[in-house]
Amino acid sequence: MTSTVPEKTLDLQRAARDHLWLHFTRMSAYEGSEVPIIVRGDGCYLEDSGGKRYLDALAGLFSVNIGYGYGEEMGEAAAAQMRELPFYTNWSYAHPRAIELATEIASLTPGDLNRLFFVSGGSEAVESAWKLARQYYAARGEQRSLVAHAPSEPYRDFDAEKAAGNVAERRWKAISRHIAYHGTTMGALSINGIPALRSPFEPLVPEVHHVRNTNRYHRPADETEAEFTEFLLDDLEHTIESAGPDTVCMVIMEPVQNAGGAFTPPEGYWRGVRELCDRYDILLCTDEVITGFGRVGTWFGSERYDIRPDLMTIAKGLSSSYASIGAVVASDRVMEPFMRDTRMYSHGITFGGHPVASAVALKNIEIMKRDQIVEHVAATQDTFKAKLDELLDLPIVGDVRGVGFFYAIELVKDKETKATFDDEECETLLRQFLSPRLFERGLICRADDRGDPVVQISPPLVAGQEEFDRIVSILGDVLAEAWTRVRK
Ligand SMILES: Cc1ncc(COP(=O)(O)O)c(C=O)c1O
Repeated sequence: MTSTVPEKTLDLQRAARDHLWLHFTRMSAYEGSEVPIIVRGDGCYLEDSGGKRYLDALAGLFSVNIGYGYGEEMGEAAAAQMRELPFYTNWSYAHPRAIELATEIASLTPGDLNRLFFVSGGSEAVESAWKLARQYYAARGEQRSLVAHAPSEPYRDFDAEKAAGNVAERRWKAISRHIAYHGTTMGALSINGIPALRSPFEPLVPEVHHVRNTNRYHRPADETEAEFTEFLLDDLEHTIESAGPDTVCMVIMEPVQNAGGAFTPPEGYWRGVRELCDRYDILLCTDEVITGFGRVGTWFGSERYDIRPDLMTIAKGLSSSYASIGAVVASDRVMEPFMRDTRMYSHGITFGGHPVASAVALKNIEIMKRDQIVEHVAATQDTFKAKLDELLDLPIVGDVRGVGFFYAIELVKDKETKATFDDEECETLLRQFLSPRLFERGLICRADDRGDPVVQISPPLVAGQEEFDRIVSILGDVLAEAWTRVRK
């Protein structure tokens, strides 16, 4: 057997093509062309193996919040932890960094979101939130036997047992929104509202119901914001009612939805969602895997929109992606039944709360506070948005939306009618032209058609005027070129 240990002389291009499987990537595309190999980063910029520089207007995957320039400091924190305690587990044991990190996050999250269950990333966080919500209802039933009632095989005497008060409450359904992305593990994938990602893996985990998202761009022009909010809340209430309210354990939504393009909530939306969850006694989980840690100009989107969730999922920006760590944050109310007698949340992951990842996340938060990263986003978000709004002069740009450092530019065929591009046009315009041309011009952002076609802009939170100008200048050129192609 030949050794696969990389030698200094390894031909990276060839080895990448022979051995590496890229995520969500048509690998055949690299048979005749170069795999992009990124070798270093600094601030908002990346450099490839050929020495070419790129402005990373996507912050990795909406995740390198402090940018790429803190490697020394973060590396020191990781090395110190490696020397002290390279690994120990959160299964039954604690260690100082996980305790400190949990305490630090609890001090930043709004309301009584005080309890941290650590995992390794966003999908695991969503997966864990759903499992926790499922178990919560059983756990809070006092003095009742925990009789399993799998929905697919009803317990024989379930109705009689229930009437006698002997059965713990059992809820399992989740509600999320159309076109929302929540991860790729089977539970998280089932929560996803993106048909193209779901269909290859069906049947999925039962049962998730999807409600309307807050995409306002294609709503009737004369609809008021209040009418739009009412329309969305009616849809949510109707969905809860038809699912059977006492079977629904969780409503999970992002404060600002990423997939589909930075859908912000209309006035009164979150207040209404919270009220419906209260009315039907359903846990509300905000998925803050992207919106957490400064992306929307506050530490959390839940704070910006006063959402008051029962659960929150975090990952990505928690460590600015310098280490793989995520978490479910639970409120005191959700934690309470798990503090009684022999009850426990029956779930665990080896790397949850990994000491090195925790040390890196702690250092990340220290840097964010010290260098006033969230304050910087809050102070410059309007300047950034105003700059991006200049792109509205282009005939192909229908809408520029978002908040903080989290924006989407929707592309249209006709601004008057808001007519969008069909699948074939998306393929030629977005995949074959826009993405490669932006990359060629040294700008990394995402041309996305999971909903209507959008370009997503989400730079590191240390970006400033120079980066705002550069993003708009390159995008302006490339989108103008795209328009001339569309017109041909
Ligand atoms: C809102 C949201 N939730 C969950 C996830 C899944 O996170 P991960 O890729 O770390 O598993 C993502 C990833 O983009 C996300 O945007």
